[in-house]
Amino acid sequence: MSTFLNQVNWEEINPKLDALIEKYRGDQSALIEVLHRAQEIVGFLPEEVQAKIAEGLNVSMGDVYSVISFYAHFSTKPKGKYHISLCMGTACYVKGAPEIVERLEKELNIKAGDTTDDGMYSLEIVRCLGACGLGPVMTVNGEVYGLLSPDKAVSILKEIKSSEVKK
Ligand code: FES
Repeated sequence: MSTFLNQVNWEEINPKLDALIEKYRGDQSALIEVLHRAQEIVGFLPEEVQAKIAEGLNVSMGDVYSVISFYAHFSTKPKGKYHISLCMGTACYVKGAPEIVERLEKELNIKAGDTTDDGMYSLEIVRCLGACGLGPVMTVNGEVYGLLSPDKAVSILKEIKSSEVKK
């Protein structure tokens, strides 16, 4: 069982999840909708939840997995203590967001959409944060950082890391 599962209050979540699955029982066409709502309830989609949904909607685990891996919106791990959202909307993209993703992935040793094993950092790709003039833009726990370069993004991350060490 993943260590992330300890962070979930299953007693509270299970009845909600069961009610959701019951509502769509056997309805294979509702898979995306159910995954979306399950993620709202749990916060992410661990294998145990995927299995419940597969069984309830009468679809294979493979089908569930391919939907989850196709849509960047779905995550199989919870957000990190520091959740980084990097914009890949058009304005940010042309101003160099792809290089920034690459550097952040390297720095954190995870792929976009993933969370570090210690649960500290997660990296998500988002579409237009509404601050295109400041592009490339990222947010860390909602705080906006603009006019980024790969070096600037990494130094912001390093600042966060060193403030964590001092705590
Ligand atoms: S495209 Fe990145 S903030 Fe709009």
